[in-house]
Amino acid sequence: MTSKRILLIVGGGIAAYKSLDLVRRLRERGMSVRVVLTGAGAQFVTPLSLASLSGQEVHQELFSLTAEARMGHIELSRDADLVMIAPATADLLAKAAHGHANDLASTLLLATDKRVLAAPSMNLRMWLHPATQRNVATLRGDGMLFVGPGDGAMACGEFGPGRMSEPLEIVAAVEAALAGDTTIPLPLAQPPVLAGLRVIVTSGPTHEPIDPVRYIANRSSGKQGHAIAQAAADAGASVVLVSGPVSVPDPSGVKTIHVETARQMLEAVEAALPADIFIGAAAVADWRVGAALAEKLKKGASGPPTLGLVENPDILATVASHGRRPRLVVGFAAETEKVIDHAQAKLARKKCDLIVANDVSPATGVMGGDANTVHLVSTSGVETWPTLPKAEVARRLVAQLAALMGEGGA
Ligand code: CTP
Repeated sequence: MTSKRILLIVGGGIAAYKSLDLVRRLRERGMSVRVVLTGAGAQFVTPLSLASLSGQEVHQELFSLTAEARMGHIELSRDADLVMIAPATADLLAKAAHGHANDLASTLLLATDKRVLAAPSMNLRMWLHPATQRNVATLRGDGMLFVGPGDGAMACGEFGPGRMSEPLEIVAAVEAALAGDTTIPLPLAQPPVLAGLRVIVTSGPTHEPIDPVRYIANRSSGKQGHAIAQAAADAGASVVLVSGPVSVPDPSGVKTIHVETARQMLEAVEAALPADIFIGAAAVADWRVGAALAEKLKKGASGPPTLGLVENPDILATVASHGRRPRLVVGFAAETEKVIDHAQAKLARKKCDLIVANDVSPATGVMGGDANTVHLVSTSGVETWPTLPKAEVARRLVAQLAALMGEGGA
Protein backbone atom coordinates (compact mmCIF):
# COMPACT_ATOMS: atom_id res chain seq x y z
CA MET A 1 0.00 0.00 0.00
CA THR A 2 3.02 2.30 0.07
CA SER A 3 2.97 5.44 -2.04
CA LYS A 4 -0.81 5.44 -2.55
CA ARG A 5 -2.15 8.97 -2.61
CA ILE A 6 -5.40 9.86 -0.91
CA LEU A 7 -7.23 13.12 -1.46
CA LEU A 8 -9.27 13.62 1.71
CA ILE A 9 -12.19 16.05 1.67
CA VAL A 10 -13.13 17.05 5.19
CA GLY A 11 -16.72 18.31 5.36
CA GLY A 12 -18.46 20.28 8.07
CA GLY A 13 -19.59 17.85 10.73
CA ILE A 14 -18.74 17.15 14.34
CA ALA A 15 -17.09 13.92 13.16
CA ALA A 16 -14.37 16.03 11.51
CA TYR A 17 -12.31 15.45 14.68
CA LYS A 18 -12.13 11.76 13.74
CA SER A 19 -10.64 12.78 10.39
CA LEU A 20 -7.56 14.06 12.20
CA ASP A 21 -6.98 10.54 13.47
CA LEU A 22 -7.86 9.13 10.04
CA VAL A 23 -5.03 11.16 8.48
CA ARG A 24 -2.60 9.66 11.01
CA ARG A 25 -3.84 6.11 10.42
CA LEU A 26 -3.55 6.43 6.65
CA ARG A 27 -0.05 7.86 6.91
CA GLU A 28 0.98 5.08 9.30
CA ARG A 29 0.17 2.73 6.43
CA GLY A 30 2.48 4.60 4.10
CA MET A 31 -0.17 6.55 2.24
CA SER A 32 0.21 10.21 1.47
CA VAL A 33 -2.81 12.33 2.32
CA ARG A 34 -3.63 15.64 0.74
CA VAL A 35 -6.47 17.42 2.50
CA VAL A 36 -9.23 19.65 1.17
CA LEU A 37 -11.11 21.40 3.95
CA THR A 38 -14.56 22.84 3.21
CA GLY A 39 -15.68 26.15 4.67
CA ALA A 40 -18.01 24.28 7.03
CA GLY A 41 -15.27 21.77 7.87
CA ALA A 42 -13.05 24.63 8.99
CA GLN A 43 -15.65 25.41 11.68
CA PHE A 44 -14.81 22.09 13.32
CA VAL A 45 -11.09 21.50 12.71
CA THR A 46 -8.33 23.87 11.77
CA PRO A 47 -6.22 23.82 8.61
CA LEU A 48 -3.19 23.95 10.86
CA SER A 49 -3.99 20.62 12.55
CA LEU A 50 -4.64 18.96 9.21
CA ALA A 51 -1.50 20.43 7.64
CA SER A 52 0.61 19.26 10.59
CA LEU A 53 -0.83 15.75 10.51
CA SER A 54 -0.73 15.34 6.74
CA GLY A 55 2.58 17.09 6.29
CA GLN A 56 1.12 18.92 3.29
CA GLU A 57 -0.56 22.18 2.48
CA VAL A 58 -4.34 22.11 3.11
CA HIS A 59 -6.50 23.31 0.23
CA GLN A 60 -9.55 25.42 0.99
CA GLU A 61 -10.39 27.81 -1.82
CA LEU A 62 -11.66 27.14 -5.33
CA PHE A 63 -10.28 30.42 -6.58
CA SER A 64 -6.96 30.70 -4.83
CA LEU A 65 -4.32 32.26 -7.03
CA THR A 66 -1.42 31.00 -4.94
CA ALA A 67 -2.71 27.44 -4.67
CA GLU A 68 -3.76 27.39 -8.33
CA ALA A 69 -0.27 28.45 -9.39
CA ARG A 70 1.21 25.45 -7.56
CA MET A 71 -1.44 22.90 -8.43
CA GLY A 72 -4.64 23.54 -10.39
CA HIS A 73 -7.87 22.06 -9.06
CA ILE A 74 -8.22 19.63 -11.96
CA GLU A 75 -4.75 18.29 -11.28
CA LEU A 76 -5.57 18.11 -7.58
CA SER A 77 -8.60 15.95 -8.38
CA ARG A 78 -6.62 13.59 -10.59
CA ASP A 79 -3.33 13.39 -8.75
CA ALA A 80 -4.67 10.86 -6.27
CA ASP A 81 -5.39 7.16 -6.27
CA LEU A 82 -8.58 7.57 -4.28
CA VAL A 83 -10.76 10.47 -3.21
CA MET A 84 -12.19 10.17 0.27
CA ILE A 85 -14.92 12.28 1.86
CA ALA A 86 -14.92 12.15 5.66
CA PRO A 87 -17.14 13.40 7.10
CA ALA A 88 -19.45 13.25 4.08
CA THR A 89 -22.24 15.60 5.11
CA ALA A 90 -25.77 15.60 3.67
CA ASP A 91 -24.90 18.80 1.86
CA LEU A 92 -21.72 17.45 0.25
CA LEU A 93 -23.56 14.32 -0.89
CA ALA A 94 -26.42 16.40 -2.30
CA LYS A 95 -23.98 18.59 -4.21
CA ALA A 96 -22.13 15.56 -5.57
CA ALA A 97 -25.38 13.82 -6.57
CA HIS A 98 -26.51 16.87 -8.51
CA GLY A 99 -23.17 17.71 -10.08
CA HIS A 100 -22.67 21.08 -8.38
CA ALA A 101 -19.29 22.72 -8.68
CA ASN A 102 -19.56 25.85 -6.58
CA ASP A 103 -16.71 25.30 -4.15
CA LEU A 104 -13.42 23.44 -4.14
CA ALA A 105 -14.78 20.15 -2.72
CA SER A 106 -17.75 19.84 -5.10
CA THR A 107 -15.62 20.89 -8.08
CA LEU A 108 -13.05 18.21 -7.28
CA LEU A 109 -15.76 15.57 -6.95
CA LEU A 110 -17.11 16.48 -10.38
CA ALA A 111 -13.70 16.72 -12.04
CA THR A 112 -12.10 13.60 -10.64
CA ASP A 113 -11.49 10.48 -12.68
CA LYS A 114 -10.90 8.40 -9.55
CA ARG A 115 -13.15 6.41 -7.29
CA VAL A 116 -14.69 8.32 -4.42
CA LEU A 117 -15.23 6.71 -1.03
CA ALA A 118 -17.63 8.54 1.28
CA ALA A 119 -17.98 8.16 5.04
CA PRO A 120 -21.35 9.78 5.74
CA SER A 121 -21.91 11.59 8.99
CA MET A 122 -25.08 13.39 9.91
CA ASN A 123 -28.10 13.46 12.18
CA LEU A 124 -30.21 10.30 11.77
CA ARG A 125 -33.21 12.17 10.40
CA MET A 126 -31.01 13.83 7.80
CA TRP A 127 -29.57 10.42 6.87
CA LEU A 128 -32.99 8.75 6.69
CA HIS A 129 -34.60 11.63 4.80
CA PRO A 130 -35.77 10.48 1.35
CA ALA A 131 -33.74 13.29 -0.25
CA THR A 132 -30.48 11.98 1.25
CA GLN A 133 -31.40 8.38 0.48
CA ARG A 134 -32.15 9.37 -3.15
CA ASN A 135 -28.82 11.16 -3.39
CA VAL A 136 -26.95 8.16 -1.96
CA ALA A 137 -28.71 5.83 -4.43
CA THR A 138 -27.75 8.16 -7.29
CA LEU A 139 -24.15 8.32 -6.13
CA ARG A 140 -23.92 4.54 -5.72
CA GLY A 141 -25.25 4.24 -9.27
CA ASP A 142 -22.50 6.62 -10.38
CA GLY A 143 -19.90 4.37 -8.74
CA MET A 144 -19.33 6.15 -5.42
CA LEU A 145 -18.32 3.80 -2.58
CA PHE A 146 -19.62 4.15 0.96
CA VAL A 147 -18.38 3.15 4.37
CA GLY A 148 -20.96 3.47 7.15
CA PRO A 149 -22.64 5.32 8.65
CA GLY A 150 -22.86 3.32 11.85
CA ASP A 151 -25.61 3.23 14.45
CA GLY A 152 -25.18 4.74 17.86
CA ALA A 153 -25.48 7.72 20.13
CA MET A 154 -25.02 10.95 18.24
CA ALA A 155 -23.50 14.23 19.29
CA CYS A 156 -26.96 15.79 18.93
CA GLY A 157 -28.37 13.49 21.63
CA GLU A 158 -30.35 11.18 19.35
CA PHE A 159 -29.65 7.53 18.69
CA GLY A 160 -29.61 5.79 15.32
CA PRO A 161 -27.81 5.60 11.97
CA GLY A 162 -25.68 8.56 10.95
CA ARG A 163 -22.48 8.20 12.99
CA MET A 164 -19.33 8.36 10.89
CA SER A 165 -17.42 5.06 10.88
CA GLU A 166 -14.37 4.84 13.09
CA PRO A 167 -11.01 5.71 11.49
CA LEU A 168 -9.81 2.09 11.41
CA GLU A 169 -13.00 0.94 9.67
CA ILE A 170 -12.50 3.73 7.14
CA VAL A 171 -8.87 2.69 6.64
CA ALA A 172 -10.05 -0.87 5.89
CA ALA A 173 -12.53 0.50 3.34
CA VAL A 174 -9.77 2.63 1.78
CA GLU A 175 -7.53 -0.42 1.46
CA ALA A 176 -10.37 -2.43 -0.10
CA ALA A 177 -11.15 0.38 -2.53
CA LEU A 178 -7.48 0.69 -3.52
CA ALA A 179 -7.33 -3.04 -4.15
CA GLY A 180 -10.09 -2.69 -6.77
CA ASP A 181 -10.22 -0.66 -9.94
CA THR A 182 -9.78 2.93 -8.83
CA THR A 183 -10.24 4.70 -12.14
CA ILE A 184 -13.75 5.43 -13.30
CA PRO A 185 -14.05 5.04 -17.06
CA LEU A 186 -15.75 7.92 -18.82
CA PRO A 187 -19.28 6.93 -19.80
CA LEU A 188 -19.06 6.12 -23.48
CA ALA A 189 -20.39 9.01 -25.49
CA GLN A 190 -23.43 7.67 -27.33
CA PRO A 191 -23.77 9.04 -30.83
CA PRO A 192 -27.03 11.00 -30.93
CA VAL A 193 -29.48 8.53 -32.42
CA LEU A 194 -31.76 11.07 -34.09
CA ALA A 195 -29.06 13.50 -35.24
CA GLY A 196 -30.08 15.40 -38.35
CA LEU A 197 -33.75 14.37 -38.13
CA ARG A 198 -36.74 16.65 -37.76
CA VAL A 199 -39.41 15.61 -35.29
CA ILE A 200 -42.81 17.16 -34.60
CA VAL A 201 -44.58 16.31 -31.34
CA THR A 202 -48.05 17.36 -30.18
CA SER A 203 -48.75 17.40 -26.47
CA GLY A 204 -51.29 18.38 -23.84
CA PRO A 205 -55.02 18.91 -24.17
CA THR A 206 -56.79 21.36 -26.42
CA HIS A 207 -59.26 23.92 -25.13
CA GLU A 208 -62.33 24.42 -27.26
CA PRO A 209 -64.19 27.63 -26.42
CA ILE A 210 -67.88 27.68 -25.57
CA ASP A 211 -67.92 31.41 -24.94
CA PRO A 212 -65.18 33.88 -23.91
CA VAL A 213 -64.89 32.38 -20.41
CA ARG A 214 -65.78 28.70 -20.79
CA TYR A 215 -64.22 25.89 -22.74
CA ILE A 216 -64.27 22.13 -23.27
CA ALA A 217 -61.05 20.44 -22.11
CA ASN A 218 -59.69 17.15 -20.83
CA ARG A 219 -57.32 15.96 -18.10
CA SER A 220 -54.16 15.62 -20.20
CA SER A 221 -51.14 17.15 -18.41
CA GLY A 222 -48.72 17.15 -21.34
CA LYS A 223 -46.13 15.31 -19.22
CA GLN A 224 -45.73 12.38 -21.62
CA GLY A 225 -45.69 14.45 -24.81
CA HIS A 226 -43.24 16.98 -23.37
CA ALA A 227 -40.98 14.17 -22.15
CA ILE A 228 -40.96 12.71 -25.67
CA ALA A 229 -40.04 16.09 -27.17
CA GLN A 230 -37.23 16.38 -24.61
CA ALA A 231 -35.96 12.86 -25.26
CA ALA A 232 -35.98 13.44 -29.03
CA ALA A 233 -34.03 16.68 -28.60
CA ASP A 234 -31.60 14.93 -26.25
CA ALA A 235 -31.13 12.32 -28.98
CA GLY A 236 -30.00 15.04 -31.37
CA ALA A 237 -33.21 15.69 -33.32
CA SER A 238 -34.43 19.13 -34.24
CA VAL A 239 -37.80 19.17 -32.47
CA VAL A 240 -40.93 21.27 -32.85
CA LEU A 241 -43.40 20.77 -30.01
CA VAL A 242 -46.93 21.98 -30.55
CA SER A 243 -48.46 22.18 -27.12
CA GLY A 244 -51.98 22.80 -25.89
CA PRO A 245 -52.45 24.66 -22.58
CA VAL A 246 -50.33 22.87 -19.93
CA SER A 247 -48.56 23.80 -16.72
CA VAL A 248 -45.39 21.79 -17.38
CA PRO A 249 -42.42 23.89 -18.55
CA ASP A 250 -41.25 23.99 -22.16
CA PRO A 251 -38.57 21.34 -22.76
CA SER A 252 -35.07 22.73 -23.26
CA GLY A 253 -33.60 22.82 -26.74
CA VAL A 254 -37.04 22.38 -28.32
CA LYS A 255 -38.98 24.91 -30.39
CA THR A 256 -42.30 25.03 -28.55
CA ILE A 257 -45.41 26.52 -30.13
CA HIS A 258 -48.32 27.17 -27.80
CA VAL A 259 -51.85 26.75 -29.10
CA GLU A 260 -55.31 26.39 -27.60
CA THR A 261 -57.63 24.70 -30.03
CA ALA A 262 -57.44 21.62 -32.24
CA ARG A 263 -57.62 23.75 -35.35
CA GLN A 264 -54.71 25.93 -34.19
CA MET A 265 -52.77 22.75 -33.37
CA LEU A 266 -53.33 21.37 -36.86
CA GLU A 267 -52.30 24.67 -38.42
CA ALA A 268 -49.07 24.78 -36.38
CA VAL A 269 -48.27 21.15 -37.21
CA GLU A 270 -48.82 21.67 -40.95
CA ALA A 271 -46.64 24.80 -40.83
CA ALA A 272 -43.87 22.75 -39.19
CA LEU A 273 -43.86 20.11 -41.96
CA PRO A 274 -41.83 18.58 -43.54
CA ALA A 275 -40.49 16.32 -40.82
CA ASP A 276 -39.05 12.83 -40.54
CA ILE A 277 -41.14 11.76 -37.55
CA PHE A 278 -44.52 12.92 -36.24
CA ILE A 279 -45.64 11.91 -32.76
CA GLY A 280 -49.21 12.81 -31.83
CA ALA A 281 -49.25 12.65 -28.06
CA ALA A 282 -51.81 15.41 -27.58
CA ALA A 283 -55.25 14.62 -26.25
CA VAL A 284 -57.01 16.58 -28.95
CA ALA A 285 -60.65 17.36 -28.25
CA ASP A 286 -62.78 15.41 -30.70
CA TRP A 287 -65.47 18.05 -30.79
CA ARG A 288 -65.80 21.80 -30.53
CA VAL A 289 -68.81 24.03 -30.16
CA GLY A 290 -69.92 24.78 -33.71
CA ALA A 291 -70.72 28.39 -33.00
CA ALA A 292 -68.72 29.57 -29.99
CA LEU A 293 -70.35 32.66 -28.56
CA ALA A 294 -68.68 36.06 -28.66
CA GLU A 295 -70.38 37.10 -25.40
CA LYS A 296 -70.68 35.18 -22.14
CA LEU A 297 -73.60 32.77 -22.13
CA LYS A 298 -76.17 33.84 -19.53
CA LYS A 299 -78.57 31.71 -17.51
CA GLY A 300 -82.08 32.32 -18.70
CA ALA A 301 -85.67 31.29 -18.54
CA SER A 302 -85.14 28.91 -21.46
CA GLY A 303 -83.09 26.56 -19.23
CA PRO A 304 -79.66 25.05 -19.91
CA PRO A 305 -78.26 25.81 -23.37
CA THR A 306 -77.73 23.17 -26.01
CA LEU A 307 -74.16 23.13 -27.25
CA GLY A 308 -74.13 22.23 -30.91
CA LEU A 309 -70.92 20.21 -31.30
CA VAL A 310 -69.06 19.68 -34.53
CA GLU A 311 -66.14 17.34 -35.10
CA ASN A 312 -62.59 18.67 -34.97
CA PRO A 313 -60.07 17.84 -37.67
CA ASP A 314 -58.08 14.72 -36.86
CA ILE A 315 -54.49 15.94 -36.76
CA LEU A 316 -52.91 12.48 -36.68
CA ALA A 317 -54.97 11.17 -39.58
CA THR A 318 -54.33 14.37 -41.56
CA VAL A 319 -50.56 14.08 -41.10
CA ALA A 320 -50.58 10.34 -41.91
CA SER A 321 -52.31 10.99 -45.26
CA HIS A 322 -50.48 14.23 -46.01
CA GLY A 323 -48.65 14.93 -49.25
CA ARG A 324 -45.61 15.61 -47.08
CA ARG A 325 -46.12 12.61 -44.81
CA PRO A 326 -43.25 12.07 -42.37
CA ARG A 327 -41.58 8.67 -42.71
CA LEU A 328 -42.82 7.64 -39.29
CA VAL A 329 -46.20 8.68 -37.95
CA VAL A 330 -46.88 7.70 -34.35
CA GLY A 331 -50.16 8.11 -32.53
CA PHE A 332 -51.33 7.56 -28.99
CA ALA A 333 -54.47 5.77 -27.96
CA ALA A 334 -55.93 6.84 -24.66
CA GLU A 335 -58.44 4.15 -23.75
CA THR A 336 -60.43 3.11 -20.73
CA GLU A 337 -61.31 -0.40 -21.96
CA LYS A 338 -60.25 -2.93 -24.65
CA VAL A 339 -56.98 -0.99 -24.94
CA ILE A 340 -55.27 -3.19 -27.53
CA ASP A 341 -58.36 -3.73 -29.70
CA HIS A 342 -59.09 -0.02 -29.89
CA ALA A 343 -55.43 0.76 -30.55
CA GLN A 344 -55.30 -1.71 -33.43
CA ALA A 345 -58.43 -0.17 -34.90
CA LYS A 346 -56.90 3.33 -34.61
CA LEU A 347 -53.66 2.17 -36.22
CA ALA A 348 -55.57 1.08 -39.31
CA ARG A 349 -58.14 3.89 -39.34
CA LYS A 350 -55.60 6.70 -38.97
CA LYS A 351 -52.99 5.03 -41.22
CA CYS A 352 -50.13 5.48 -38.80
CA ASP A 353 -47.07 3.29 -38.29
CA LEU A 354 -47.25 2.84 -34.56
CA ILE A 355 -49.73 3.44 -31.77
CA VAL A 356 -48.63 3.91 -28.19
CA ALA A 357 -51.65 2.67 -26.29
CA ASN A 358 -52.34 3.29 -22.65
CA ASP A 359 -55.13 2.75 -20.19
CA VAL A 360 -56.24 6.11 -18.86
CA SER A 361 -58.98 4.87 -16.51
CA PRO A 362 -58.93 7.02 -13.35
CA ALA A 363 -57.66 4.07 -11.28
CA THR A 364 -54.41 3.94 -13.30
CA GLY A 365 -53.43 7.52 -12.38
CA VAL A 366 -51.86 7.94 -15.84
CA MET A 367 -53.62 11.23 -16.58
CA GLY A 368 -51.54 13.84 -14.78
CA GLY A 369 -49.34 11.20 -13.11
CA ASP A 370 -45.63 10.59 -13.60
CA ALA A 371 -45.73 6.93 -14.65
CA ASN A 372 -47.23 5.16 -17.61
CA THR A 373 -47.84 1.59 -18.73
CA VAL A 374 -47.88 1.42 -22.50
CA HIS A 375 -48.34 -1.10 -25.29
CA LEU A 376 -46.67 -0.47 -28.63
CA VAL A 377 -49.08 -1.55 -31.30
CA SER A 378 -48.01 -1.88 -34.92
CA THR A 379 -48.81 -4.18 -37.80
CA SER A 380 -45.96 -6.42 -36.62
CA GLY A 381 -47.57 -7.03 -33.23
CA VAL A 382 -47.96 -5.72 -29.69
CA GLU A 383 -45.14 -5.02 -27.28
CA THR A 384 -46.08 -4.31 -23.66
CA TRP A 385 -43.66 -2.35 -21.51
CA PRO A 386 -43.57 -2.44 -17.71
CA THR A 387 -44.84 0.56 -15.76
CA LEU A 388 -42.14 3.21 -16.17
CA PRO A 389 -41.64 6.89 -15.41
CA LYS A 390 -42.91 8.96 -18.34
CA ALA A 391 -39.36 10.20 -19.03
CA GLU A 392 -38.19 6.59 -19.39
CA VAL A 393 -41.12 5.73 -21.67
CA ALA A 394 -40.04 8.72 -23.75
CA ARG A 395 -36.39 7.60 -23.94
CA ARG A 396 -37.34 4.05 -24.90
CA LEU A 397 -39.79 5.27 -27.51
CA VAL A 398 -37.14 7.52 -29.03
CA ALA A 399 -34.68 4.60 -29.12
CA GLN A 400 -37.33 2.45 -30.83
CA LEU A 401 -38.08 5.15 -33.40
CA ALA A 402 -34.39 5.60 -34.09
CA ALA A 403 -34.12 1.86 -34.73
CA LEU A 404 -37.13 1.98 -37.07
CA MET A 405 -35.64 4.93 -38.96
CA GLY A 406 -32.41 2.97 -39.26
CA GLU A 407 -34.32 0.06 -40.79
CA GLY A 408 -35.71 2.44 -43.41
CA GLY A 409 -39.11 3.04 -41.86
CA ALA A 410 -41.66 1.09 -39.91
N1 CTP B 1 -55.82 12.80 -32.48
C1 CTP B 1 -55.60 13.86 -33.32
N2 CTP B 1 -56.62 14.70 -33.63
C2 CTP B 1 -57.86 14.49 -33.13
C3 CTP B 1 -58.08 13.40 -32.26
C4 CTP B 1 -57.04 12.57 -31.94
O1 CTP B 1 -54.47 14.05 -33.78
N3 CTP B 1 -58.83 15.33 -33.46
C5 CTP B 1 -54.70 11.89 -32.19
C6 CTP B 1 -54.20 11.93 -30.78
O2 CTP B 1 -53.15 12.87 -30.66
C7 CTP B 1 -53.71 10.52 -30.58
C8 CTP B 1 -54.62 9.70 -31.44
O3 CTP B 1 -55.17 10.59 -32.39
O4 CTP B 1 -52.41 10.35 -31.09
C9 CTP B 1 -55.73 8.99 -30.73
O5 CTP B 1 -56.39 9.87 -29.87
P1 CTP B 1 -57.61 9.34 -29.03
O6 CTP B 1 -58.22 10.49 -28.32
O7 CTP B 1 -57.20 8.14 -28.25
O8 CTP B 1 -58.55 8.78 -30.17
P2 CTP B 1 -59.73 9.40 -30.94
O9 CTP B 1 -59.30 9.77 -32.30
O10 CTP B 1 -60.37 10.45 -30.12
O11 CTP B 1 -60.67 8.13 -31.07
P3 CTP B 1 -61.81 7.60 -30.07
O12 CTP B 1 -62.78 8.69 -29.97
O13 CTP B 1 -62.29 6.38 -30.77
O14 CTP B 1 -61.12 7.26 -28.79
